[in-house]
Amino acid sequence: MSVVGIVPAAGAGERLGADVPKAFAVLGGRPMVEWSLDVLREVCDRVVVAVPADRTAPPDFVAGGATRSESVKNALDAAPEASVVVVHDAARPMVTVDLVRRCLDALDGVDGVIAAVPVTDTVKEVEDGEVVRTPDRGRLWAAQTPQVFRAEALRRAAGEATDDASLVEAMGGRVRVVEGMRENFKVTTPLDARVAEMLLAD
Ligand code: CTP
Ligand code: MG
Repeated sequence: MSVVGIVPAAGAGERLGADVPKAFAVLGGRPMVEWSLDVLREVCDRVVVAVPADRTAPPDFVAGGATRSESVKNALDAAPEASVVVVHDAARPMVTVDLVRRCLDALDGVDGVIAAVPVTDTVKEVEDGEVVRTPDRGRLWAAQTPQVFRAEALRRAAGEATDDASLVEAMGGRVRVVEGMRENFKVTTPLDARVAEMLLAD
């Protein structure tokens, strides 16, 4: 069994607004992506990173695509040996070895496992500035990465989505939820980067 880590790190980071692509912005004294690479390399046999086209370094740093889903696909295509895949965003540098292991351990009998946390805000569905629905908060979880899959389930799941699990779900795949960590938030805005600096300093 070959466990391959896939790290989408090819985004521009427009909302962060740094002068380099987000995954390469310095956070806690090093390029953001390196925090995740340290963790995944401890758990996986190999880690493939999808990066902007001018930062490739074969065989493990491959060119990403125009969308996150394309970047994941490019990295997956570079790892035909994978039987289990651990997808983890470069933009979540506070991930831990323990969380990745808990996701891998939960893959028994399902197609995928995602880390997620219960939603704390009440979420509204809005159209044209008006609320059309208020889903029951007690059933809502915010998806994170890591997201762990049987490689063949992810290979079959084509399309565009903001996470990989939704593509596997759309194919009828079973996806289990493991409780993630609030600290494992996605660094998206300058405020997120300030909070992440504090957490990575400990
Ligand atoms: N990502 C990727 N390829 C893309 C777009 C995103 O590999 N074409 C990666 C990002 O590098 C990031 C993760 O997917 O690690 C989550 O995406 P997001 O937080 O949206 O990052 P960016 O797209 O870089 O940020 P923004 O949307 O603000 O430009
Ligand atoms: Mg993006």
